[in-house]
Order: sequence, then structure tokens, then C-alpha cells
Amino acid sequence: MFEKASVIVRNAESLSFDYVPQTLVHREEQRTRLETYFRPLAESGRPCYAYLTGSVGTGKTATAKRFSEDMAAYCFEAGRPIETISVNCRSRNTEAGVILELVRNYDKGFPERGFSPDEMMRSFRAHVEKGARPVLLILDEVDILLKKSNIDLIYQLTRFSEDARGKAGVSLILISQYPIYGLLDEASLSTFGRGNAITFNKYTRDELFSITEARAEEALIEGRYAADAVDLIADVSSEYGDARFAIELLRDAASIAEGHTEGYLDTEDVREAKANINSVVTESKLLGLDINRKIALLAIARAMKNNLYITITAAEKTYGVVSEEYGRTPRKYTQFWTYIQDMDRQNLLETVVRNEKEGGRVTYISLPDIPSKVLAKKLEVMLEGKEFIASDVTELD
Ligand SMILES: Nc1ncnc2c1ncn2[C@@H]1O[C@H](COP(=O)(O)OP(=O)(O)OP(=O)(O)O)[C@@H](O)[C@H]1O
Ligand SMILES: [Mg+2]
Repeated sequence: MFEKASVIVRNAESLSFDYVPQTLVHREEQRTRLETYFRPLAESGRPCYAYLTGSVGTGKTATAKRFSEDMAAYCFEAGRPIETISVNCRSRNTEAGVILELVRNYDKGFPERGFSPDEMMRSFRAHVEKGARPVLLILDEVDILLKKSNIDLIYQLTRFSEDARGKAGVSLILISQYPIYGLLDEASLSTFGRGNAITFNKYTRDELFSITEARAEEALIEGRYAADAVDLIADVSSEYGDARFAIELLRDAASIAEGHTEGYLDTEDVREAKANINSVVTESKLLGLDINRKIALLAIARAMKNNLYITITAAEKTYGVVSEEYGRTPRKYTQFWTYIQDMDRQNLLETVVRNEKEGGRVTYISLPDIPSKVLAKKLEVMLEGKEFIASDVTELD
């Protein structure tokens, strides 16, 4: 996007979706709570637990990542190094997938298939004990994992620490937009008691303003953007209280402005950027989908055209065509259906079952308020490999 010498953007990296700022303004309280909860880990390597919750784009992931990096640096300085691991349960949405990530933190070449979760868990445990470093593990978007039945990963990880008896254990930061209490077993519930919950409120308009202003200063060339463009971004995103929306607006507006001869970002560019992005279907959500799901969603977007709904049969037909276009064998209906349900849970699409006049019930799919063309374009760019993340390398069903 920013290959050419840029007239507006000075530091594109700080606008990327996984960038973690050095300091997170307006999150001092959450940060302090984390420090309080994790003091035993810093001081004596004892396992600690916290649960972060709040709506979309409220800084949960960024705060957890900043904290874990700072914690690792602190412990290293103090001569008691820790291991930090972060797994996004949206891209690793099975128990086996998550444990595989844990093992691969120690053994990059660990094979994708051929080992049961139990075997992988033992391998992970052996690595932790061998390295003798306490682990600080972030399980981000953990609700997606917990919603599947038969997941007792959290229980195993907390048990692990009890069994470790003074040896290196696993500390956990669980992150979720949605309440997870109902999804945890009794034992894990007592570990993640309500006392350890840290809430992230939606950002106010003024908070969004200072977050956007700080990011603009970091990312853009001084004098190349209008102050009221930052104001407008704060206004627009305050409807959602979502900092990601604000930063995506800033990045897209900058990219649009790059294309103009004036070389200046103003409110008009923000308006144009707003027309193209959506707060529910965020780019990071799309990037988190593995290649199978990206292809399935692209097929749905293409089949949708100007319709409000399409039937699952129509979607599956297009799915066959799109799979072949990308040189892949389409998966069977049952697998396609699990992709749909999975993306429904992530609010990337919606399914409704309707009784037909002729009798029988038919499943329809609709898209949230994103133009299907815009969605299709985004997915095409990602599938062409211009935007690439790890989940595509080692896809799991
Ligand atoms: N207080 C802040 N200061 C600076 N940047 C922030 C702040 N809060 C969030 N951001 C930025 O906003 C974006 C979204 O934040 P983050 O990914 O942490 O949200 P989240 O709460 O994890 O959202 P989701 O639930 O959708 O995953 C990131 O680019 C992050 O850097
Ligand atoms: Mg997040």
C-alpha cells in the first residue's frame, strides 16, 4: 500500500493492525490492575491470572500485549526471565490448534497432524519444565474456543501450574468481548473469579480524539494532515467507542489522501474512508480467518451481489467455483456448513432459517452492513497474498 515514497505517511508500521503502541493512553487503570495481579509472577514466578473483557476495539489486546512485553523485559532485567506466548483463538479455534501453537513456541517444526491434544500437552509441559521459565500466556478471543463443547484447556493449564509445585507454571490472561463465566468449568471459575476481571469501557469521544491524535503524530508527516480530520475521526468513531475503527479510518484516509495531488489529508478523505469501512467486519477479523474460511466468505460476498439474502445452496455453488479459482478442492457440505456457523459466531455473517411457503425449511445467509463488493475486494487482496498471516500457513479445519 505504501510502497511508493509517501508524502503523508512517515511510519506505516504504526498504522498496521497488529501494532502495539509504547503507551496506551486512558488505559492506566487497567494497566495498574494487571500489575497488581501479576506481581507474584514478577517477583517469584508464581502463576497469576486475569480476565480482560470489553467491547470491540477497547484496547484489550493492545493492553495485554504491551503488558506482557514490558513484563518480560522487567523479569529479564531482574534475572528471572519468563516466556511469553500469545494465541488468538479466532485463528486457532480448536483445542488442538491452540496447544499446537503452545508447542510450536518451543519447537517451530512440530508437525501439524499426527499428535493428540494430550500428547501435545505433554510435550508442551516437558518444554516448560526443561526451560524452567514461567510462562505468561495470552489467550485472546477465548470465547470462540470456549463456545465449543468439550474444551478443558483452561482447566488443564491451571492444573498444570498446581502440579508444577514450585517449578515453572503457566500464568494466563484470558481476553473476551463476551462474558465467559458461563463457559468455564467450576475449577477454572474459581481461578478466574470475578475479582480478577478487568473491564475495558468503550472510549469516549475525547479519548478517541487523543488516541487518534497520538497515532497521527507517530505515523504521519507533520503539516500533512488537517487537525479537523482528526476531530472528524473522533466524532465518527465515538458512535462505537472503538479505537480500531478510529485507527483504520486514519490509515485508510491517509492512503486515499496519498492518491491526491495535494498531498494533504483532510476531512473529505476521512469521509471517503468511512464509506469504505465497517466496524463489525474489521480487517483483523478477516485476516484471522484461515484460507478455507476466506474462500467461503468470498464466495458468499460474490453470490450476494445486490440481494439482501442468499440461500446456503446458492452460496455453496459459488463456493465450488471460487475454490477452483484459487486452485483448491472445495470441502464437503458439512465442512462448508461449519465454516458458515463459525463465521456467524464471529458476526461476519448472519444465518436465518425460514419456513418456505412450499413447505420445508431453508437456511439463508446475509451480510452485516458492509457492501458485498467491498468485502469481496478485501478478501481478494488478502487471498492474493498481499496481506499474509500465519493462520494461512498451517490451516486447520
Ligand atoms: N488506549 C489506546 N491508545 C492507543 N491505541 C489504542 C488504545 N486502545 C486501542 N488502541 C488501538 O486500537 C486498536 C484496537 O485495539 P485492540 O486491538 O487492543 O482492541 P480489542 O479490545 O482487543 O478489540 P477486539 O475485541 O475487537 O479484539 C489497536 O490498533 C490498538 O493499537
Ligand atoms: Mg483484540
